[in-house]
Amino acid sequence: MYTLDLNGRVYRATEDMNLLEFLRDYLGITSLKNGCGEGSCGACTVLVDGASRRACLLTVAGVEGRRLLTVEGLSEREKDIFVRAFGEAGAVQCGFCLPGLVLSAKALLDQNPAPSVREIRRAIRGHICRCTGYVKIEQAIGLASRLRSGGTLPAGAAAGVGASLPRVEVRDKVLGTGRYVDDLRVEGMLYGAVLRLPCARALVRSIDTAAARSHPEVAAVLTAADLPGARRWGFIVKDWPVLVGPGEETRYAGDAVALVAASSRRAAREALALIRVVYAERPPLTSPERALAVGAPALHPGGNLLSTVRINRGDTTAALARSVHVVTNRYRTPPTEHAFLEPESALAVPEADGRVTVHTGSQSVYEDRRGIAAILGLPEAMVRVVGRLVGGAFGGKEDLSVQHHAALLAQACDRPVKLTLTRRESILVHPKRHAMELELTSACDAAGRLTAVRARVVADTGAYASLGPAVLERACTHIGGPYHVPAVDVTGQLVYTNNPPAGAFRGFGVPQAALACETNLDLLAEKAGLSPWDIRWKNALEPGLTGACGQVADAGTALKETLLAVRETFEAHPGAGIACAMKNTGVGAGLPDGSRVEIRVENGKAVVLTSAACVGQGLATVLTQIVCQTAQLPPEAVSVAAPDTAQTPDAGTTTASRQTFFTGEAARRAALALARTGASLADLEGSTFAGEYCHPTDPLGSSKAAPVHHAAYGYATHVVWLDAAGRVAGVTAAHDVGRAVNPRAVEGQLEGGIVMGLGYALTEDFPLADGVPQARFATLGLLRSTDIPDIKVILVEKNPDPTCFGAKGVGEIAGIPVAPAVAAAYRRRDGKLRLSLPLTGTPYRRS
Ligand code: FES
Ligand code: FES
Repeated sequence: MYTLDLNGRVYRATEDMNLLEFLRDYLGITSLKNGCGEGSCGACTVLVDGASRRACLLTVAGVEGRRLLTVEGLSEREKDIFVRAFGEAGAVQCGFCLPGLVLSAKALLDQNPAPSVREIRRAIRGHICRCTGYVKIEQAIGLASRLRSGGTLPAGAAAGVGASLPRVEVRDKVLGTGRYVDDLRVEGMLYGAVLRLPCARALVRSIDTAAARSHPEVAAVLTAADLPGARRWGFIVKDWPVLVGPGEETRYAGDAVALVAASSRRAAREALALIRVVYAERPPLTSPERALAVGAPALHPGGNLLSTVRINRGDTTAALARSVHVVTNRYRTPPTEHAFLEPESALAVPEADGRVTVHTGSQSVYEDRRGIAAILGLPEAMVRVVGRLVGGAFGGKEDLSVQHHAALLAQACDRPVKLTLTRRESILVHPKRHAMELELTSACDAAGRLTAVRARVVADTGAYASLGPAVLERACTHIGGPYHVPAVDVTGQLVYTNNPPAGAFRGFGVPQAALACETNLDLLAEKAGLSPWDIRWKNALEPGLTGACGQVADAGTALKETLLAVRETFEAHPGAGIACAMKNTGVGAGLPDGSRVEIRVENGKAVVLTSAACVGQGLATVLTQIVCQTAQLPPEAVSVAAPDTAQTPDAGTTTASRQTFFTGEAARRAALALARTGASLADLEGSTFAGEYCHPTDPLGSSKAAPVHHAAYGYATHVVWLDAAGRVAGVTAAHDVGRAVNPRAVEGQLEGGIVMGLGYALTEDFPLADGVPQARFATLGLLRSTDIPDIKVILVEKNPDPTCFGAKGVGEIAGIPVAPAVAAAYRRRDGKLRLSLPLTGTPYRRS
């Protein structure tokens, strides 16, 4: 028997075990999160005798007799201070990291009530926040320090469009009372686990589950033979097996072979070890080159070339021949890991009438429902998907990862089953950013005006298609950059291999293309005798000019304004790198792209119903502001319900920087309908007002003279400079955001994107050995608070389009210009042309 002093109360444990597991699973203290389980993310932080410690590395026995504190044990005054400070600073995004950070902040402030920024950065160095880039978290801790010493905050922010309203969910996220899926526990719940093979490609000969089934705590063991419905799923191509069975091949190390449900996590793991799989390992195809080689085995029935993209505008051959300056380079970018802080989790609950409810933390409850229903062999109406808090996604939670497996187990056992991936499993399973090879020829005339672009792009989409065909298309459509290019010839190929699948990842193929486009542009500038700023100014898209794919830039295009906004900074830092970017808002390309919102007046409040997932970007706050502005309501009269296929209309996936624009406009329309009644909420009790917004677009290759491939584009220019030691010292980022519904939230999202872009440029890698990921969370190369340079964000707002008050998407663009701007800064320092990521020959990475 062990005795614990936790938050001033005494608890007893009958056996020794991991402290994090004990606190979460046995005491229900879920403010501590399991982000990595290996001591490197800080999400499980607990104070032990006042010092910040990692619960995942401690045992119950190891802390016996010590004083433990979690955020639940903070005084009410301290709770209030941290909630106000984090809310006011805009330091809240997905929130998964926050309770841990609050505890490290408390430990710091107890020792040092007025810390410097440097001291704050050192105190939180053990924490990873993948969303915020740490800037606003540092500011929040500084603010908390002032509030503890009696400082005050300005009077409450206004709630309309353009106000920096604190996140509506700030309290739940800062104090850890909000529920992510793995925080849920229901009566009779079982734990799921998944068996995978230790290699990337193998022929499964047989699976013997008898020993696992006889384990006393096991309720079900499933293999491919037990599948009741669709055996494969996928957004674009149904190529991803739910379970790989005897006689079939696994195609990557994340493929599932068997599922187990047991009464504890430990028993589920034990049962997995009892399953005997006979398999023959086969040589994996680990690169597009090998997969396309003559005689290579076909990984899928249609062969290894999954899709091809072709873009042809103008006579590129003639334009190149006429050009005065021509540059050709071959670029290579690696796969990268999303590293969202919350590993994937789903809880499936069978209902008495045969329906199944699945709680998820994904990017679209309706897409989840479509996939799960098909796999369960049920009509969609028999499956309900409820969205819980999402601890970051960045594109990595679009595909099914755990939802379908949890649902299958729940259906088989007729009991609730929760399935949560360990960090290692998360790294193995979900799709990554595409590794690409890009050969780019860029040309200009004597004055530096772009004349033509020719590109060949080969993308490794790994074992399954996921969203790869669309990612390749975005890489190809953006490789001309945000410039007027008269002649374009682009060919892209998407290739299956035995590497982990690649799919959506913030930027969706554009960061890879931008490295090539912007680096080539700098080389042309040198040949033409122009500065890097001048060549961009000379070629920048402006209203009325045609982009590389034929879409005419609309009146809201403000790329030149972003160039002007950074000009002084660029000139003030000799040797700075500069890069521009554009990124579409919405999926576009002729696909259905719309959103629906209902506002129901309930208990005197306007309740906003939409399935749009908040993955940390702050959608509930944005929708609150839009409804407040449109219907002239105070924020306390508005609430936003969680996504739920039984309650909320389909708003499409949270992807392609689309939700503020699409769902924001749908919310505006619903609020307008409410406002037009002229009645009070009390008089409207029980009424519902609907708003819908769709934006038709044209597919790539449309024969229209002026096609519209996307509803809107955002633009940006970044300047990056180095210090004397060659480390990145500063980033100034000017962004054309159309209209900032919540300026502080936009800034925070952009800061987070910039830091993710710095990681992509400098430190992040995803090494594979025979197709099997080698990284642990600690070795992914994620930047920490002490690595962050000074970041200044400049918001440019000029969009006259009234749709959603002129707002454009900002979710993805911030990470796009960073790598080429950093590469340019290093080249201006040492003259070395760097054609691959992460960059080498820097203080961050020698080789
Ligand atoms: Fe303990 Fe990540 S879960 S440090
Ligand atoms: Fe820090 Fe998402 S807010 S990880």
